[in-house]
Amino acid sequence: MPATASRDIAVLKDAAELSSSEHVLAALRATRRRTLELIAHLSTNDMERVLSPIMSPLVWDLAHIAAYEDLWLVHRHAGLDLLRADLAELYDAFETPRQKRGEIELLDTAQARVYMEEVSERSAAAIEAHGVGEGFVHEMVVRHELQHTETMRQTMALAGLLPAGEPPQTPATTAEGWIEIPAGTFQMGAGAEVFAYDNERPRHTAHTGAFQIARHPVSKASWMSFSEGGGYERREWWSDEGWAWKEEYDITHHPDAATGDSQAPVCHVSWFEADAFARAHEARLPTETEWERAATWEQGTKGTNGADPTGNRGALAGIGQVWEWTASHLGGYPGFRAYPYREYSEVFFGPDYRVLRGGSWATHPRVATTTFRNWDLPQRRQIFAGLRLTKDG
Ligand code: AVJ
Ligand code: FE
Repeated sequence: MPATASRDIAVLKDAAELSSSEHVLAALRATRRRTLELIAHLSTNDMERVLSPIMSPLVWDLAHIAAYEDLWLVHRHAGLDLLRADLAELYDAFETPRQKRGEIELLDTAQARVYMEEVSERSAAAIEAHGVGEGFVHEMVVRHELQHTETMRQTMALAGLLPAGEPPQTPATTAEGWIEIPAGTFQMGAGAEVFAYDNERPRHTAHTGAFQIARHPVSKASWMSFSEGGGYERREWWSDEGWAWKEEYDITHHPDAATGDSQAPVCHVSWFEADAFARAHEARLPTETEWERAATWEQGTKGTNGADPTGNRGALAGIGQVWEWTASHLGGYPGFRAYPYREYSEVFFGPDYRVLRGGSWATHPRVATTTFRNWDLPQRRQIFAGLRLTKDG
């Protein structure tokens, strides 16, 4: 866990905290302190240039964080005009997609920081004047900023610009073997009493067949064996799309597997590679239903909405070091309703995106709950993602 990840802002304890103005103000302040600490070592030039063609300049994330806070807490919640209506389109993720963000005139770093500061003052004043109601949008804004600090870490990692001490050393593990889970049902998704995104609801009864799931994510050492054993050459281990992707980009190995502690989980693998690795081991990726059932196994059907600081949840060890790719596409649970905006997740439903579960070292535990669903495209390698194997029981 990096020093900045959880020192200042805790995991949400209960619903009472959500609707407490005092708690919300403290969470917003602590989150902001953490965001600014993350970039403290960077030059203005590193903040403003395109560090990777698939990512935003970091300064875009800063102003986007402020624009989102102004939209939800000041404009929508408190009913005031936007501070900078002229910036709304520029810092809307859909109106201005990543590829465009390097080509257009953005606020510079100093201006973005002033904008953040001014919006913070406005949202604090709005909270003083109007309260937070049930606090749902406020928690959404806190988690939005926490999620963007992971995106910013992806950008920084691509450019070799992570702060000192990151990524943290992952504790070596001795956990091995398979956990056997019999066929059965459990309650999947977030309960009504906690904060959750629309795609985690409604909570419903879900079923899995009997399966076995690895106690620990795949290590760098295992990935090296896969690679050296022809992992990137054996056509039969790859899907058609995965093989085409690998050939097009001439991918022959994974650089992450050869660096750092060989017992640490492999990181930055794409879904295509994770799928091939699983097939090479006569295994497969878990469905997200299997993953959630295993992650909540020891709690029976109760489930949790908080991270165990030891990184162990339910039967699974090592959660929270790397995101874990699942076999599932992102979709709505039965009875899904988009809330409070379609663009959070519904527009990503369908066959393009795969779901990741668990969380990485860069994910704040307040975000990485057992029911949280992350998603990305199968070719993505910049995310902090690994895998955990599953087999039929
Ligand atoms: C949940 C991580 C896939 O980065 O696209 C940030 C989070 N949504 N701003 C993303 C998000 C809007 C989202 N992920
Ligand atoms: Fe965003």
